[in-house]
Amino acid sequence: MRDAAPQTIYLSDYTPPAYLVEEVHLTFRLAPTSTRVISHIRFAPNPEAASREFFLHGEQLDLKWAKIDGAEVAPVLSDDGLRCDAPDAPFTWEAEVEISPETNTALEGLYMSNGMYCTQCEAEGFRKITYYPDRPDVMSVFTVRIEGDLPVMLSNGNPTATGDGWAEWHDPWPKPAYLFALVAGDLVAHSGSFTTASGRDVDLNIYVRKNDIGKCAFGMEALKQSMRWDEQAYGREYDLDLFNIVAVDDFNMGAMENKGLNIFNSSAVLASPETSTDANFERIEAIIAHEYFHNWTGNRITCRDWFQLCLKEGLTVFRDQQFTADMRSEAVARISDVIALRGRQFREDNGPLAHPVRPESFVEINNFYTATVYEKGAEVIRMLRTLIGAEAYRKGCDLYFDRHDGQACTIEDWLQVFEDTTGRDLSQFKRWYAQAGTPRLSVTDSFADGTYTLRFTQTTPPTPGQDDKQPQVLPIAVGLLAEDGTEIVPTTILEMTEASQSFTFDGLTAKPIPSILRGFSAPVILTRDTTASERAFLLAHDTDPFNAWEAGRALARDTLLAMVRDGTPPQTAYLDALATMARDEARDPAFRALCLGLPSQDEIAQALVDAGETPDPEAIYDAAQTLRQMIAEHLQDTLPRLYAAHQIADAYAPNAEQSGKRALANAALSYLTRIDGGVQAGAQYEAATNMTQQLAALACLIKAGKGDGAVADFYNQWREDRLVIDKWFGLQVALAAPRDVAQVAEKLTQHPDFTMQNPNRFRATLGALAMTPAGFHHASGEGYRVLADWLIKLDPLNPQTTARMCSAFETWPRYDEDRQAKILAQIDRILAQEGLSRDSTEMLTRIRDAKG
Ligand code: TRP
Ligand code: ZN
Repeated sequence: MRDAAPQTIYLSDYTPPAYLVEEVHLTFRLAPTSTRVISHIRFAPNPEAASREFFLHGEQLDLKWAKIDGAEVAPVLSDDGLRCDAPDAPFTWEAEVEISPETNTALEGLYMSNGMYCTQCEAEGFRKITYYPDRPDVMSVFTVRIEGDLPVMLSNGNPTATGDGWAEWHDPWPKPAYLFALVAGDLVAHSGSFTTASGRDVDLNIYVRKNDIGKCAFGMEALKQSMRWDEQAYGREYDLDLFNIVAVDDFNMGAMENKGLNIFNSSAVLASPETSTDANFERIEAIIAHEYFHNWTGNRITCRDWFQLCLKEGLTVFRDQQFTADMRSEAVARISDVIALRGRQFREDNGPLAHPVRPESFVEINNFYTATVYEKGAEVIRMLRTLIGAEAYRKGCDLYFDRHDGQACTIEDWLQVFEDTTGRDLSQFKRWYAQAGTPRLSVTDSFADGTYTLRFTQTTPPTPGQDDKQPQVLPIAVGLLAEDGTEIVPTTILEMTEASQSFTFDGLTAKPIPSILRGFSAPVILTRDTTASERAFLLAHDTDPFNAWEAGRALARDTLLAMVRDGTPPQTAYLDALATMARDEARDPAFRALCLGLPSQDEIAQALVDAGETPDPEAIYDAAQTLRQMIAEHLQDTLPRLYAAHQIADAYAPNAEQSGKRALANAALSYLTRIDGGVQAGAQYEAATNMTQQLAALACLIKAGKGDGAVADFYNQWREDRLVIDKWFGLQVALAAPRDVAQVAEKLTQHPDFTMQNPNRFRATLGALAMTPAGFHHASGEGYRVLADWLIKLDPLNPQTTARMCSAFETWPRYDEDRQAKILAQIDRILAQEGLSRDSTEMLTRIRDAKG
């Protein structure tokens, strides 16, 4: 049971731990419902602590006995741990607890998934394994003995000894408890090896269940590429002789960077051409890199406390974004990152859950693994690098690794290294960590006597608990173009620090066309009064590919907004520019595919809110459908040629080149289906030899209303493959007509393959409902009701995943009174559940109590 009045934890209350840990020995006697954990821990008073209170975290543990220096003690137990008299000198703590992995459905601590034992300790899961100071500023060396009858038994670091029914591991690197991991199961390994820059050989393994052994090759290559990249880009070498990855089916998030033993959601590591889409491959490559990069940014240097989460997450996301940009197309990678940022982080930052990149308080830390901490956290580092330059950035990072290796650090430590290496004052820049909300940046321009002036104004709207915002440091990348498309001023970084500020460019012969916020150089919402023809010009001519795409995006957004408002038909300027772009053989197919996409319905809804209007989700959906139809008709002649020209004769490879072609061919197919009613899609479905083509064709057929046969066929073909069946669940929900979405989701929950215990399956079904705006927000309120029904069912089993999915309701203040009332009624219904988790309670109260 959670305590009745959950406590709020404040950053400002941080105090150093009373005792530090010198070493930890753990013995696990594995048994599904009665695992014994015997701990042997050397404690020493922390000279920097004010208090000598000996407190160990512990939750849902059955304590059998405890000893200090060999003498039995009787600690005082509470819901969240124990207190005990302890010496004011180094001592040995020993204890034995019993836990029940098999009944642990929360997937936090030690749990079982398909007969395999595994752990998830971040953020505060270790306290469900044994009594311990479960906070990241307590770092120690771990030695682990596992006793059990499973063929593979793993922990962090290196294997030191093994025998019949037991295995011992030792991790020489001091680490906080959240990086502890244990895995035991009937697993097989896909092995590889890597030689580091200094010539050390590292054994690599991806452990999976037997049936999945054919899906590891891609992940192994991605791991090696990540290891090489971190050596080259950041000078960081791997530091153990062994690196293990384990795939597990039941997992709350993507993956976890436990030292030397990364644990992955199977969806984030297993891949084969037949069962995974190009997008899956790309995501896997990025997550493998992300977790690997944590070895330095997170593990060797960790966080002092959980308020500093962005210290490791924002930095590591930025690093994995750089990696993806280097491995694939830089422009495509940046556009994809920005689409994700706008879709998830802007939405969060402009709603009731808005919080700073470094929050100042929380109730449940699991609720702060957010798009703001991760994605905006990465944007902040990207801006820092833009402002000081690549070289100074690398120098600062080198100093960071040098100065703080082995420490638990803060954002202050991170910024200090850049102040020290550049001599810059970063105090205003630091506001990016403290101020929530997305800055609005508006710009006007003028030209006189050869001088071109850009005048910018920034304002950040109030967010919960933060009414007044100060101006932030904005690196604004600007280039100027002449009317014939030549670039007269190359990309220049304007450093804006004031609320309003002008920048001038001299010596020009005519008024230029500005390309502003190139590469999305700051995470802001840029507004500028401009014409459709200027946007079309930039789409065709901007030398910055991000801004070329952005110009097209803005055209699409304006078009949709006009259609939603009064049915204004699309301007031919937009349709013609799109057609020209689509046919432009000089452009990367992946880039062209991105240009053929429309802004999300969520983005249109937010744009209407920004304009002081109330979005109607169904009207937005209808406008998007109409626009797609008009694009299809306008491109009618181009589509079959585009489709044919981007078929691939070579064997499938998930690389950037091939996946770009497939993306363009599939974008063409999707429009083509509106013309031919699904003939081509049917043919592609029949002929498909990889999941990218099969799934795209299936989607087209469903949208064309001709999917019934293929949906049944797809299920029969893939019923044994969990990850493919997740796609099958999700697609049917996402592509249903808005009035049917809730019903389709609800019906799928009755399917024998639906299970609440597996977060992937739950998200595939109910998450798809939440992410299908016109269906979720259908006026009937059924979307809200079905989601609430299932969150109520999931919460007692898995609070973490339930709480994350509560964010589906975060956009309620945007909508009309009727929808608001319906959403709030569902929120209140969930909140009224007896014993509702601290996780979900915090999320729903934050969402509900925001001033609309
Ligand atoms: N640190 C992990 C990452 O970013 C994410 C993570 C945090 C996580 N808590 C978790 C993963 C709980 C799974 C379950 O890579
Ligand atoms: Zn991470």
